Amino acid sequence: MKIALIADIHGNLPAMEAVLRDIETQGVNRIICLGDMVGKGPKSRAAIDLCRQNCDEIVIGNWEHGLFRDFARLTGGDTRDISERARWFMREIGEERMEYVGALPHSTEFAFGGKLVRLFHAHPLNFNRYFPNSPLEQRMELFGSAESSEEKRAADVAVYADIHTPYIQTLSERRLVNIGSVGNPLDIPRASYVVVEDGGEETDIQLVRVDYDIDRAVELAWQCQTPDLEGYITELRTAKYFRRG
Ligand SMILES: [Fe+2]
Repeated sequence: MKIALIADIHGNLPAMEAVLRDIETQGVNRIICLGDMVGKGPKSRAAIDLCRQNCDEIVIGNWEHGLFRDFARLTGGDTRDISERARWFMREIGEERMEYVGALPHSTEFAFGGKLVRLFHAHPLNFNRYFPNSPLEQRMELFGSAESSEEKRAADVAVYADIHTPYIQTLSERRLVNIGSVGNPLDIPRASYVVVEDGGEETDIQLVRVDYDIDRAVELAWQCQTPDLEGYITELRTAKYFRRG
């Protein structure tokens, strides 16, 4: 069994298309998306549609969670403090897809041999953000069970996304994996995804990087006048996080 893991597409269609083409060459059995299909980039709606067409499972990211919270307030008539930026993305996504992303599960899991692999966007219980150099006790939290977990034991392999920077660490014989970002990588400007394969005793984990047409992604962002355009384009080109002023 071979499974491709993608996340943080953030409405970047050229990156998503390049990754799907690459995944096709890998002969995988399943594709799982770890959230943040939407936001930041210009094509959230199309990113949702491509994920729905291609992924066997999708878990919710902090962007879907945050936008859906605003969407639920708006539809309930509470318009206070909902940013123009959030409204822009909600308009682009549309109601049917907002309802869909708001109902996505927080986590999923599967077993390879006897090894429990648990997957979520940022943290099994919430959207706390942990980095490879976060305190060890924080990183160890990531092996804990989620509310939706069928298995309550600690994961042997915990897989997350959120920080847009892929890495693998071995901690007390458990493995912590970050799969990086398809559409908004923040280490090098190449799309990132992961392939995991049932290797019997061990789970084989492959970090994959894919070149994509960044000029086209920039062009689409210009055409759509994406919110925070300058920062977004800087991030696409440099893979350095751009703090909004
Ligand atoms: Fe993200």
